[in-house]
Amino acid sequence: MDRIGVFDFGGQYCHLIARRIRDLGVFSEIMQDPSNTYSGIILSGGPGNVYSEESPQLPEDFFEKIDVPVLGICYGHQMIAQAFGGVVQKGMEREYGKKIAMLNNTSPIFNGLENNEQVWMSHFDQIVELPPSFENIGSTDTCSIAAFHNLEEKLFGVQFHPEVIHTTNGSKILENFLKITNCKREWKLKDWIENKISELKQFIGQKQVIMAVSGGVDSTVAAILLSKADVKAHFIHVDTGLMRLDESKEVSEIFRDLGVENLHVINTKERFLSKLKGITDPEEKRKIIGKMFIEIFEEEAKKLGDFDILVQGTIYPDRIESAQPSQHATVIKTHHNVGGLPDTIDLDLVEPLNDLYKDEVRRIGEIIGLPEKFIKRHPFPGPALAIRILGEITIERLEILREADAIVTEIIQKHNIYDSLWQVFPALLPVKSVGVMGDKRTYEYILAIRAVESIDAMTADWARIDYDILEEISNQIVNKVHGINRVLYDITSKPPGTIEYE
Ligand code: XMP
Repeated sequence: MDRIGVFDFGGQYCHLIARRIRDLGVFSEIMQDPSNTYSGIILSGGPGNVYSEESPQLPEDFFEKIDVPVLGICYGHQMIAQAFGGVVQKGMEREYGKKIAMLNNTSPIFNGLENNEQVWMSHFDQIVELPPSFENIGSTDTCSIAAFHNLEEKLFGVQFHPEVIHTTNGSKILENFLKITNCKREWKLKDWIENKISELKQFIGQKQVIMAVSGGVDSTVAAILLSKADVKAHFIHVDTGLMRLDESKEVSEIFRDLGVENLHVINTKERFLSKLKGITDPEEKRKIIGKMFIEIFEEEAKKLGDFDILVQGTIYPDRIESAQPSQHATVIKTHHNVGGLPDTIDLDLVEPLNDLYKDEVRRIGEIIGLPEKFIKRHPFPGPALAIRILGEITIERLEILREADAIVTEIIQKHNIYDSLWQVFPALLPVKSVGVMGDKRTYEYILAIRAVESIDAMTADWARIDYDILEEISNQIVNKVHGINRVLYDITSKPPGTIEYE
């Protein structure tokens, strides 16, 4: 199968490039080791400066070793130019957002495009001088070398981001690159499913399998694939009591409707609550929940018998991010996946989804019959409502938040904006304020509503939700949810805010 490798310079859109290429029917992955086994290589964007020693560089002799076509995007575009003797300079100001680029559409990389195209820019530095034998094939009013090619060496560069939807014909540019590489476009999810099921049948056979299912899309899809492969599996769902309204019930229903047997729902509400009593520190909450979860899973697994294989719903970005933590990344939060078990468990690990992206898992979910509403569900953190209740977690607060959460989701879905948002949810603040209701003084909690738009959760913009919808949410919550008398709307983007509150 033909493959395209993406070299990661730390850009926020790096995974998006690989996903777009897969959408065009060619398998693509973040490259660990650049080689000619790829049909083509894309060099991603990145936050560094190509001329700085501290910034990521290409492996030594990259261009001597690689003779397949290479496309550089943003930082990658500058990197190619620099490697061949061009000059990249610090820009005076950041060029950011939609721009009109003048493109030379006689270049094979811009085949079928107009001379004027809308593109998405995000950079400070610029190429100010191209290497000899490179041709300038694009410019904007503030960036004179916005694209180049060197047809003999099969090198292409664009300063803008073709992988982002704001570059109107960006996918045409990526498609042109695929044509230049002579890739066959034969990567299809339906084939993937069939292959995976027969692979699971062969690899697992009669061995005994155990798996934790959180109720999220990834673990549910992995469980269904196992069931389709007719392997002997037991599934454990830990109901921590920190879940959204009816969440554990829904998991049971989905498993039942799709004929997946041996689901064990373990009610552990009291255990979690008593361990979390008096805990207010966000990191401490996360750690307690993660540890408790593992403890309970191991206990239950022991009761069910002996197992050979542990299956997990790990997807590709989880795997890549834990294998290659960015050098410059600081720990903001210990992200934890309920269902993420430590490698000390003495079982063989099988991760059927570990080369897929989230949207591919969703499409597979669709193909194998998961309800659309379930598949399109917003991401939900492993520690669940615990990190949306600021301060101490109590039954009373959990119930308030669960009820408010159900109301927010219902109203957002009713107005058909759920799918356009990355996430929308309420968070309960640990402060009370005075209000008046039916001529009486009230003194109740304040609730914050968070709604964000995002591509990958690395950055997010607060969503400009219609005032009337916000009003409806506020009215319903204050009227129906006992314990809240004031609703706030969060207008912080990420950064500087994070999406979750803790
Ligand atoms: P933050 O709050 O870091 O969140 O901006 C980014 C995305 O990750 C989700 N999130 C988590 N997911 N376990 C998870 O599985 C976690 O501990 C966790 N914390 C945050 C969050 O919902 C958002 O989509």
